[in-house]
Amino acid sequence: MLVLGLETSCDETGVALYDTDRGLLAQALHSQVAMHAEYGGVVPELASRDHVRRAPRLIRRVLTEAGLTLEDLDAVAYTQGPGLAGALLVGAGLASGLAFALAIPAIPVHHLEGHLLSPMLSVPQPDFPFVALLVSGGHTQLMRVDGVGRYTLLGETLDDAAGEAFDKTAQLLGLGYPGGPAVAQLATHGDPYKHRLPRPMLASGNLDFSFAGLKTAVLTLYNRLGPDSAADIAAAFQLAVVDVLTEKALAALKTTGLRRLVVAGGVGANQALRTRLTVEAQRHGFTVFYPPLSLCTDNGAMIAYAGALRLAQGVTDGGFSVRPRWELDALAPITMKVA
Ligand code: KG4
Ligand code: ZN
Repeated sequence: MLVLGLETSCDETGVALYDTDRGLLAQALHSQVAMHAEYGGVVPELASRDHVRRAPRLIRRVLTEAGLTLEDLDAVAYTQGPGLAGALLVGAGLASGLAFALAIPAIPVHHLEGHLLSPMLSVPQPDFPFVALLVSGGHTQLMRVDGVGRYTLLGETLDDAAGEAFDKTAQLLGLGYPGGPAVAQLATHGDPYKHRLPRPMLASGNLDFSFAGLKTAVLTLYNRLGPDSAADIAAAFQLAVVDVLTEKALAALKTTGLRRLVVAGGVGANQALRTRLTVEAQRHGFTVFYPPLSLCTDNGAMIAYAGALRLAQGVTDGGFSVRPRWELDALAPITMKVA
């Protein structure tokens, strides 16, 4: 089965072709980062319009690269939510239009499910069950994953997401958008132990997170020390986030008794986090799986892949709708089935 995946939930237009026999055949991505940079964050209306402009060309590109045509498609998978309503509508509209014209199903995919399953596109693939640490710009969650569509929320952030904390810290330190890579880069020039920032919720006794206070602590420190200390502050901030994410992930493995950890979402691209988790994995005897770096941030491949798995489960059509707000653990293994 050949599935075209469309990701348009935020500021990346991602398109990919996944074949259930041959794997990922082609993928293309257009990042809107440069366009939004001058506003210091994503402008939803501009994002939607850009998806409209970019997506058709990217679809052509992946088809050409794979030596295929639209008629070869068996289904079109698209991000139904969560995300920006207007941006989601572009993917939903395009998928529905193509599906209608080609008389094939348009499969709705939950964006976080895409992230969560993306490590399965790498080798070796993690077996179920596993604990997933989902760390993106909008979400920070620990999930127990027993199979496709079988997700149990173990803990999540009570306020800002980890990626959001990186983005806000970047703004405070005068770095650009998106903040994660910029803070991580600056942190390589700083001493993470020179200033100590709080580790919010570390001793909370549960698997929830909170990052809003950390951002305030960064602001206080920056106001006191000034721009010359920006690199040390970035390093201290990154260390605090890595400490909390690592400790909570370890606690989730301990609580569930599982031995496999899957890291997904944009912050999963963070090298300091990856290094620490790899060290802890060796020490505690668990295995950690990451998607390839290119699949950590938003992309079409994870949507095509999740769509292919949903197709195999019997999901056949999502109707034309988007869900800007959508809890992952509300997903059923089979969300819709048309006889
Ligand atoms: O998963 P993603 O691409 O989009 C969402 O679904 O939110 O995640 C984007 C987030 C942004 O907040 C970005 O700053 C963060 O991931 N990010 C990073 C890194 N690369 C991206 N955070 C820390 N270190 C990185 N290297
Ligand atoms: Zn994402």
